[in-house]
Amino acid sequence: MMKRICALIFWTTLLAGSMVALAQDSVAPSHAPGFPLWAYGYVIPPDPPEDWSQRCLGARPRDCDRPGGMPKDLTNALMSVQGSDLEFTQAVITSPFSPADWFPGDHPEMPDIVAYGNEEIGLRACAICHLPNGQGLMQNAPVAGLPVDYFLRQLDDLASGKRVTSDPHKANGFEMAAMARAMTPEQAQEAAEYYSSMPFKAWVKVIESDTVPKFIASRNGLLMKIEGNETEPLGQRLIELPEDTYQTNNLRNPRSGMVAYAPIGSLAKGKELVTTGGDTSFECLTCHGPDLRGTALGPPIAGRQPSYIGRQLYDMQQGTRKGIFAAIMKPSVERLTEDDIIAIAAYVASLQP
Ligand code: HEC
Ligand code: HEC
Repeated sequence: MMKRICALIFWTTLLAGSMVALAQDSVAPSHAPGFPLWAYGYVIPPDPPEDWSQRCLGARPRDCDRPGGMPKDLTNALMSVQGSDLEFTQAVITSPFSPADWFPGDHPEMPDIVAYGNEEIGLRACAICHLPNGQGLMQNAPVAGLPVDYFLRQLDDLASGKRVTSDPHKANGFEMAAMARAMTPEQAQEAAEYYSSMPFKAWVKVIESDTVPKFIASRNGLLMKIEGNETEPLGQRLIELPEDTYQTNNLRNPRSGMVAYAPIGSLAKGKELVTTGGDTSFECLTCHGPDLRGTALGPPIAGRQPSYIGRQLYDMQQGTRKGIFAAIMKPSVERLTEDDIIAIAAYVASLQP
C-alpha cells in the first residue's frame, strides 16, 4: 500500500516537473542527426529541449539541478530495503547533502565530500548520484574501481571544459562539470581514492530481444519500466532499465542493478568489433586490456552501464570529450555507426567486470 502511495506521489512529482519545464523560457539546442537518444535516456527528443550549458557556470553546481528530477514524498513514511536494518524517509533517501546510506558495511568509511558534498556552495554529495558504492546509475557514471589518476584526469578535463556532454539538455552533465570546478584538490583526491578502492561489481544483465517492456523517460535521464507485462518493439535501440524501478529510483538501493535490452545479434557483432576493430574501428583490447578490465592507459570498461558507454563513444566521436587521452581514442570511434555503438555497448556491458 505504502509502495503504491509513494509511486503515486512520485508520478505526480514527475508530471508537475514537466509542467514547470514547459513554462520555462528555453534556448532550443538541436540534437545532431544520428544522436543516440537511448544513450542519453530519451524515448523521443526532449521537447522543448532546454540548454543547461550556461546555467551553472558560477559557484553553485546545484543551479544545474533539474526541478522534478528526484522523487518526493510528503508523508514522511519510513522506507526500507531488503537486507538492510535501516529505515529512512524519502526526503533523507534523496537528500542532496546527506543521502541515505543503506549498507554502510558494503564500503569503507566515506570521505565527507562523498557523503555530504558541500552545502554552502551547493555541491551535492557524490553518493547521491554515483551511490555510496560507486556503482552509479545509467544517467551518471560508474566510478567504482577507476584508477586514481584516470579519475583525477576526468575531474580536470570536466573542470577545464575539455570534457562536456554533447547533449545541451543533460543538466547533470553540466552539474558534474561545475562540481569538478568547485571541488578542492584535497576533496578530489579523497573522492578518487575512496571510489578507486572498491571493485566495480556485476551490475547489468544484457538480454538480446526484439521487444522491450513498455517504459517511459524520467526527467533525470533514467528510463523506467511501466508496471505490468506489456512490451513494445525494441527496434535499433539499446534500452537500459532498472531491474526494479522503485528500488532504483525511489529507494536508490545500491544493490539493485540494471537490465539492458539489445537487438538480436548485438553481442556477436560487438565481440567482433571489440576484438578485431572490424571495418570501422581498432581493437579495443590493445588499450583496455584483454578482458577490458583496464590497463595503465585505458580505463576499465567491462560490465559497466551500456548507456554510459554509448554516451562516451558518441561524445568522443562528436569531439566534446577531447582531453589529451580521449584524443588517443578518437581514431577508434570516428567511423563507428550508431549500430556499431549499440553492439559495442551491449557486448562490453555483458562482460564480467
Ligand atoms: C548530479 C549528479 C552527480 C553528482 C552529485 C556527482 N556526479 Fe560525477 N558524474 C555525473 C554525471 C552525469 C557524469 C558524466 C556522465 C556522462 O558523461 O555522460 C559524472 C561523471 C563523473 C566522473 C567520470 C567517470 C568516468 O568514468 O569517466 C567522475 C570521476 C565523477 N563523476 C566524480 C564525481 C565526484 C567526485 C562527485 C562528488 C564530488 C560527483 N561525481 C558527484 C553526475 C554526478
Ligand atoms: C589507442 C588506445 C585505445 C583504443 C584502441 C581504444 N581506447 Fe577507449 N580509451 C582509451 C583511453 C586512453 C581512454 C581514456 C580517455 C580519457 O582519459 O578521457 C579511453 C576511454 C574509453 C571509454 C570511456 C571510459 C569512461 O569511464 O568514461 C570508453 C567507453 C572506451 N574507451 C571504449 C573503447 C572501445 C569500445 C574501444 C574499441 C572500439 C576503445 N575504447 C578503443 C584508449 C583507447
